[in-house]
Amino acid sequence: MIVTIGGIAAHELADTFGTPLYAFDGDRIRQRVRALQSAVPGHRPKLFYSIKAHPSVAILRLLSDLGVGGDACSPGDLAYAARAGLHGDEITYAAVSFPTGDRDALIDTGGFLIADAPAQLTMYAQRTEHRRDVGLRVSPSITAGFHPLVQAGARGSKFGVAPSAVRSVVCKARQLGLRVTCLHVHLGSDVASPMSHVAALELVLKLATVDAPDVSIIDLGGGWPVPFATFDAGNHYPPASPSDSYLLAEMGEQVRTRLDRFRAATGRPIKLRFEPGAYLVMDAGFLITRVTDLKRPETGFDSPRPMAIIDSSYSHLFSAVIHNTFHEALVDGSSGRPLVHQDVGGHLMQAGDILARDRLLPALEVGDVIVFVKAGAYKASQASVFNGRPRPAEVLVDRGVARLVRRRETVADLVRFEAHGDAVPEDSRLGD
Ligand SMILES: Cc1ncc(COP(=O)(O)O)c(C=O)c1O
Repeated sequence: MIVTIGGIAAHELADTFGTPLYAFDGDRIRQRVRALQSAVPGHRPKLFYSIKAHPSVAILRLLSDLGVGGDACSPGDLAYAARAGLHGDEITYAAVSFPTGDRDALIDTGGFLIADAPAQLTMYAQRTEHRRDVGLRVSPSITAGFHPLVQAGARGSKFGVAPSAVRSVVCKARQLGLRVTCLHVHLGSDVASPMSHVAALELVLKLATVDAPDVSIIDLGGGWPVPFATFDAGNHYPPASPSDSYLLAEMGEQVRTRLDRFRAATGRPIKLRFEPGAYLVMDAGFLITRVTDLKRPETGFDSPRPMAIIDSSYSHLFSAVIHNTFHEALVDGSSGRPLVHQDVGGHLMQAGDILARDRLLPALEVGDVIVFVKAGAYKASQASVFNGRPRPAEVLVDRGVARLVRRRETVADLVRFEAHGDAVPEDSRLGD
């Protein structure tokens, strides 16, 4: 099997850029953008890529060329957006914490605030240069998302204001000289059924009818699941199959009906916004690793199966451990080898650092390139340097060309921020 990413073999990428390496397929990202932009007949949702999924200036630029803005949640996200040339209406901002420094960073970009709580409105209004229009995040009490840790819309979650409080928060905004023009609801990641998004839409449209009469924008957040796909020998993915539980077309039709009904009843057209993260980049991103060692039962390894050790770990595939996500492992250039049940272990000094367990893979050898799929969202962004292992480089493969878009961290980077000896500035001490 030759594993290709955007038409380039994984082993070529590994040889040229080194491993471990995140590689992204630009065309796959574009396909996803088009699918979501055209999902609702008669409406064109404005997409804001959720930067937290994978902050990358290169990907933000690629998306910006397609009319996609950025959904930020921190000054760091805003810095990525600014580097990619986004500002003003191309930025939307929703955060659970909003200290003055974060507020100032947002106002400097001209981005659009989605307030998570009334206190954020007060804080926002204290600076005079702010925009007048703001959004408000609603807590829908809808349980959706693939794991309890990501079910942001469930009852009792820390985000947003209760539907019953919307009217009073809208009044408070008015008193502060602000206008709530957008209601926002984000359910969670990997929402299984379109009807969950539709239920969220119905809730905010109801609120917009009476409690929030200035609303002209509904932002349904993110959570569009990555279509189920298997991989053929050329590592080509079929398009979303009818067996996918989440049908975009069904969501689109149901959303269209509700928006049109709302317009007929109120005379108010609604602009729709989505904030996809994983849907755009999850399976456009791959983690390319190399086998560095082999452990075999016949040479004293206390296991019924051989284990290949790679130069990467769960630090680079974070959710595999914390959310138990499954990542298919593809072995590049392994045609003709017998298939053997094997494990793949990471290089961390931690027993649980196993990236593939009891998988039927071609008999692995030192030097083999193993590619983990669905590594594009919430992996690099949550990667750590645990055990003194610098974070991988990133490449974007686009239109047949692979380009380094983030350099590999080095060991020197790891110690760069140590404040020690002569390097300690005068104002970094207390009590001398
Ligand atoms: C407010 C908000 N919008 C959008 C997203 C993106 O979610 P997903 O990557 O599941 O599409 C998130 C993820 O945490 C979020 O918190």
